Amino acid sequence: MQNILITGGAGFIGSNFVRYLLKAEPEAHLFNLDALTYAGSLENLKELPDPQRHTFIKGDICDRVLVEDLIRQNKIDTVVHFAAETHVDRSIFGPAQFIQTNIVGTFTLLEAVRKLWLDENIIPGASFSEKLRFHHVSTDEVFGSLGSDDPPFSETTSYSPNSPYAASKAASDHLVRAYGHTYGLPFTITNCSNNYGPYMFPEKLIPLMIFNALEGRPLPVYGDGQQIRDWLYVEDHCDAIWTVLQKGKPGQTYAIGGGNQPPNLVVIRTLCEILDECQPQSPFIPHESLIQFVADRPGHDRRYAMDITKIKGELGWEPRQTLASGLLNTVNWYLSHPEWAEAIRRQQDYQGWLAKNYEQRGGAK
Ligand code: NAD
Ligand code: TYD
Repeated sequence: MQNILITGGAGFIGSNFVRYLLKAEPEAHLFNLDALTYAGSLENLKELPDPQRHTFIKGDICDRVLVEDLIRQNKIDTVVHFAAETHVDRSIFGPAQFIQTNIVGTFTLLEAVRKLWLDENIIPGASFSEKLRFHHVSTDEVFGSLGSDDPPFSETTSYSPNSPYAASKAASDHLVRAYGHTYGLPFTITNCSNNYGPYMFPEKLIPLMIFNALEGRPLPVYGDGQQIRDWLYVEDHCDAIWTVLQKGKPGQTYAIGGGNQPPNLVVIRTLCEILDECQPQSPFIPHESLIQFVADRPGHDRRYAMDITKIKGELGWEPRQTLASGLLNTVNWYLSHPEWAEAIRRQQDYQGWLAKNYEQRGGAK
């Protein structure tokens, strides 16, 4: 791994991974291709360790010419593919961009590496199946929803995606696997549960609750708030991807999860308690009084949980953070980065989205 292309490296997990990898792999140069959609920001890439080994390129993964030039000119031998449209609620309002980026974008990257790695052999001496790797970062949402007594999802669970977001990610997983099967592309896929932590865009549950609570805005709970997610601290996810890149077998998929599966309402109440303690001067104490039940998300998946037996047994990875320690770190990070929060708040799209989503759920504006 000399020259690594990271797609979507200005987003939440991608930017955390850039930071992680600059420390973990001192020999590599990172090429970070990101279109800087509403979810991506150069604010996420400030104060990188060893920044001279990081090159940022603003561009779209669907731009075949750009992608090919980037891979050829920089002799890319490893692709770590994060770029995607990622928010389920947005996929319900407008699925088209999810099809474009998540499916067409992944296809574009796959075609580029097929041509350059296999046909043009741009990395002389590197066998197609050894030194090269296309790593696809995917989600547990491709598996659908679990009932309360079902066993957790694993690598052998059949695909049953429910939202347009999940369906677009499922399609991209299938494309990656098909390129491995048909052309011998050395790929790995990780299907990971819900992440949280620093630099997460405040449209997703945990940062949205922190942002709203700090401003005294309502904390919208969809439906009965008893839906379950398997929360993983983002640095643990980065560690898992790095482990798979180093030790994972080409052609394999790995399930990743945090082993933290409380209902949403418990997560929200815990955040409120942490904020009560960290912000004793806040006029909004108790923050829990801001909780407001709103209309449920259409087709809302009830429960996710991941069985990490394979990655733990074969590669030795397991999460380090508990939900308690991870949530505390996360709240502290948001409190200690007010300039980051301010830059996001100033985004016109952010305020517009908040109002639209809240209105749609019958909440007061
Ligand atoms: P994010 O929405 O925070 O960031 C996505 C990034 O992709 C942004 O920087 C955006 O600018 C970029 N991007 C979007 N469209 C692009 C395009 N056409 N070309 C180039 N760049 C583009 O997403 P995230 O939460 O960091 O998720 C990263 C990956 O991890 C996604 O593939 C997602 O499906 C997967 N994943 C996320 C979670 C989670 O909890 N957030 C869990 C499991 C898997
Ligand atoms: P989210 O962070 O959007 O992730 P995903 O839908 O990919 O799991 O939502 C996590 C859970 O929180 C999900 O069950 C929906 C719920 N939720 C709320 O109750 N209120 C909110 O304002 C948001 C954004 C999510």
